[in-house]
Amino acid sequence: MNIIEIISKKRAGLRLDGEEVKWVVRGFVQGYIPDYQMSALLMAISIKGMDSDETVALTREMLESGCVFDFSGSREPVIDKHSTGGVGDKISLILLPIAIECGLRVPMISGRALGFTGGTLDKLESIPCLRTDLSPQRFEEMVGEFGGCFGAQTEELVPADKKIYALRDATATVECIPLIVASILSKKIAEGIGGVVIDVKCGAGAFIRRTDDALRLARALEEVGGEFGVRVSTVLTSMEQPLGHAVGNALEVAEAISTLQDHGPTDCIRLTHRLVSEMLLLGGIVGTRIEGKKRSIEALSSGRALDLFLKIIEAQGGVIDMKEPYFGLPKAPVVKKWLSPKSGHYDFMHPRLAGEVVRELGGGRLAVSDEIDPSVGLVIHKKKGEPVERGEPVFEVHAGSDIAAQRAVHRIEEGLVISDGPVWPHYLFL
Ligand code: URA
Repeated sequence: MNIIEIISKKRAGLRLDGEEVKWVVRGFVQGYIPDYQMSALLMAISIKGMDSDETVALTREMLESGCVFDFSGSREPVIDKHSTGGVGDKISLILLPIAIECGLRVPMISGRALGFTGGTLDKLESIPCLRTDLSPQRFEEMVGEFGGCFGAQTEELVPADKKIYALRDATATVECIPLIVASILSKKIAEGIGGVVIDVKCGAGAFIRRTDDALRLARALEEVGGEFGVRVSTVLTSMEQPLGHAVGNALEVAEAISTLQDHGPTDCIRLTHRLVSEMLLLGGIVGTRIEGKKRSIEALSSGRALDLFLKIIEAQGGVIDMKEPYFGLPKAPVVKKWLSPKSGHYDFMHPRLAGEVVRELGGGRLAVSDEIDPSVGLVIHKKKGEPVERGEPVFEVHAGSDIAAQRAVHRIEEGLVISDGPVWPHYLFL
């Protein structure tokens, strides 16, 4: 086969057959298709799309590029959760130990920052010494010992997603439904799960902005999952403002730990309980969402989920100091607060802008080889509709230098609205 012909075929809007998809994925993983040709193909796919047969073929080849787990012998239902990506989305960190405490097995393989959104792996790796690049053996041991773990795509686990994901991040080819479906489901199916709950994010701070596209994405995830015998349940949630207050790797981990201490932001807590209850329903542990929510609340408020989180982090080499400010996570040298020049109601901070500012501060990548600064980010003190007093801090920037902090403050100010009159609060569930 010839990669140039395959790129031209897709550029012309024609279907790729299963053999062509297989050849491309293998060639890219083995290194005989270079990044620049794969980038061109990803761009052609982003523009021309893929039908459901092509999406299934791509998912299969990405899945089979590495080791596939088999937890079918597990006594507990094996169910995972994933998000299609949003700003400030640290829910996986909070949810995993809660779901395990409620009786599930959660062998989670997550992703890195993608586009203007953060990634669970980059967040976790802000914890000193923590390793997410678990070998297949260690991954299985963690699931056996603790009920789950935080794993990454590696040379052995979905390597095709590891490579394609990094390339999409740097080539503006993230916002493409078939690529999102294949990326998410290849990881999830490789985990050997029976089902997965997917939080499909929709709005200004998500890759998918319109509800009809979010529904298309949800349907595609359910259908393609079904082709592999994995039950997929989707929850559509709005991403019109960052989740929680923190955006940035270490800041989000600190917020996740506070949430596990049962004093987190309301939206993070509500979303976590909703997704856990959906997972418990999918796993057959409960018969109703209300019962699932009760169990989830109990696992959180009893402190059991926090204890388990700390054990999992320790077993993956991470060091968290519960007595230290910010739990001993990296802290930025400069913190700049923005004070409201007037009284009113907090209305809007563009979530995509917030994500992009954090990326520019060094919290994400602009090129594949960029190093992440885990300490930088934003803390937004207000939620849509809340009153603001003149002189009150509305947000703060955590940056590596004064200049970077100043630039970030100016950028955020441009997308910030404090309204004089009352403002409708934000609806999380669509
Ligand atoms: N999460 C993933 O794992 N992949 C995507 O493409 C988007 C969100």
